[in-house]
Amino acid sequence: MFGIDRARKTAAVVAAAAAAATTALISAPTAVAAPQPIVGGTTTTTTAYPFMMQITDASQNQFCGGTLVSATKVVTAAHCMVGETTSSVRVVGGRTYLSGTNGTVSRVSKIWINPSYTDATNGDDVAVLTLSTSMPYTTAKYVSSSDTSVYAAGTTARILGWGTTSENGSSSNQLRTATVPIVSDSSCKSSYGSDFVQSDMVCAGYTSGGTDTCQGDSGGPLLIGGVLAGITSWGNGCAEAGYPGVYTRLTTFSSLVTAQVNS
Ligand code: ARG
Repeated sequence: MFGIDRARKTAAVVAAAAAAATTALISAPTAVAAPQPIVGGTTTTTTAYPFMMQITDASQNQFCGGTLVSATKVVTAAHCMVGETTSSVRVVGGRTYLSGTNGTVSRVSKIWINPSYTDATNGDDVAVLTLSTSMPYTTAKYVSSSDTSVYAAGTTARILGWGTTSENGSSSNQLRTATVPIVSDSSCKSSYGSDFVQSDMVCAGYTSGGTDTCQGDSGGPLLIGGVLAGITSWGNGCAEAGYPGVYTRLTTFSSLVTAQVNS
């Protein structure tokens, strides 16, 4: 029930069309109502965040985010890749708008899904894609297994994505970003009980809610000090008070990721 949203992939197609129709409104420079991005943030661009990738279907309809960590490797969420094949997925770089046709589109030659991932727990939610075409964009660094201090409670983290701007809303045509504080493991445990697996997951968000990732942001980055430290994974609704967003705790998986990046 704390849903990784499986209907999302089809919903994305509809949302992308709706978002395209409202581009002018969303990109108007003066229109900045408070809670929005992702949920509650600001618009940004892939020029500002060149490693931010759209994960799309073969028709280039975005359904998840991903982070470019080398010219041909993208880190995303395992739950984004369940049921996908190398022919069903594309990765699009350098494209700020869902409605855009610019940037670089690559096919995927390999999908590695963490073999421990299971949708029963949403734990171990990491996947690495190998691209057929090199992306000419600046890559992101990612945490090493010893960097566990990055998750100190209260640390500011940045989230990015094209996901819905409210819990049951539609996707954002333009890339959005927001910052959220890392939540202590004990506090996240009180929100989610045993669904929160401390070794695999880290939480971020304000106690009062209001700012969060949401459906369609999955697979995208949680950056701490500009370094990839988490992957958007799940939550109870979006931006609800008392229910922070849950991210893959990447330090736990960085050696596995490195093995894929170097393979
Ligand atoms: N599972 C969602 C996706 O597939 C991401 C949900 C994040 N939820 C949250 N409240 N932070 O796009």
